[in-house]
Amino acid sequence: MSFEDKVVFVTGAGQGMGRAIAAHFAGLGARVVAADINADAAGKAVAELGSRGLALACNVAEPASVKAAFEAVGERFGRLDVVINSAGIGSVDAFLDTPDDNWMRVIGVNLTGSFLCCREGARLMRKCGAKGSIINVSSTAAMSGEGPSHYCASKAGVMGLTRSIARELAASGIRVNTIVPGPTNTPMMAGIPDEWMQAMIKAIPLGRMCEPEEIARVAGFLASDDSSFITGQNIAVNGGMAFL
Ligand SMILES: NC(=O)c1ccc[n+]([C@@H]2O[C@H](COP(=O)([O-])OP(=O)(O)OC[C@H]3O[C@@H](n4cnc5c(N)ncnc54)[C@H](O)[C@@H]3O)[C@@H](O)[C@H]2O)c1
Repeated sequence: MSFEDKVVFVTGAGQGMGRAIAAHFAGLGARVVAADINADAAGKAVAELGSRGLALACNVAEPASVKAAFEAVGERFGRLDVVINSAGIGSVDAFLDTPDDNWMRVIGVNLTGSFLCCREGARLMRKCGAKGSIINVSSTAAMSGEGPSHYCASKAGVMGLTRSIARELAASGIRVNTIVPGPTNTPMMAGIPDEWMQAMIKAIPLGRMCEPEEIARVAGFLASDDSSFITGQNIAVNGGMAFL
């Protein structure tokens, strides 16, 4: 599997899964655009990749910021082959106490952010004639409901987004799929109390959390021609804890 001469845009590339995904594609020869709201973290991620990378400060929830990021990619590389929407946030809110702002923020980053990057990414892929691949990142929580309402709703929304645009973009040769991770060893999970974590691990038949590199390898598969007849699908990476 080689991504020589391909351009891969990764959101949330400053840490966690996004960072592992950026490193994986760089290792496969791609030119990687590391986009993150945290410009410092994106810069550090790219520094690890060598000179082939581009770090971009981008707030995926802001249409103007996303537009500017994809314009920068077009100007710098003149093409785009892969978009991976890993940027995501959570917030611990009981449903009845959910502040409006938190609902808007979580939906804004996880769902609207994915929509904006899919749209701008697909526009650029079409413009440069790339038969590209878009990968959205959902969560097992979308299916199980084990999580706050905004988070579960945003991640279920991502699945619907994938299916709709997979149908529409198929005619352009662009495939769109959703990775559905189970609990994964990233900074997002660092704040979870140990007791909660142990209960979660107990529910995973393979008996451990996922490592971000295991998500990155699935992203590599979904972005490559090895998955050329797969589009619109949920691909679970969860150690057997749920069956989609
Ligand atoms: N870690 C898990 O157990 C787990 C499980 C299922 C799904 N997920 C999903 O996987 C994705 C990656 O999660 P992670 O664990 O790597 O998270 P993380 O918190 O470790 O990293 C998320 C990254 O996204 C960036 N980000 C946040 N808001 C942004 C914005 N508005 N614009 C651009 N970048 C922004 C952050 O700065 C950070 O670098 C998320 O969508 C998350 O919901 C995570």
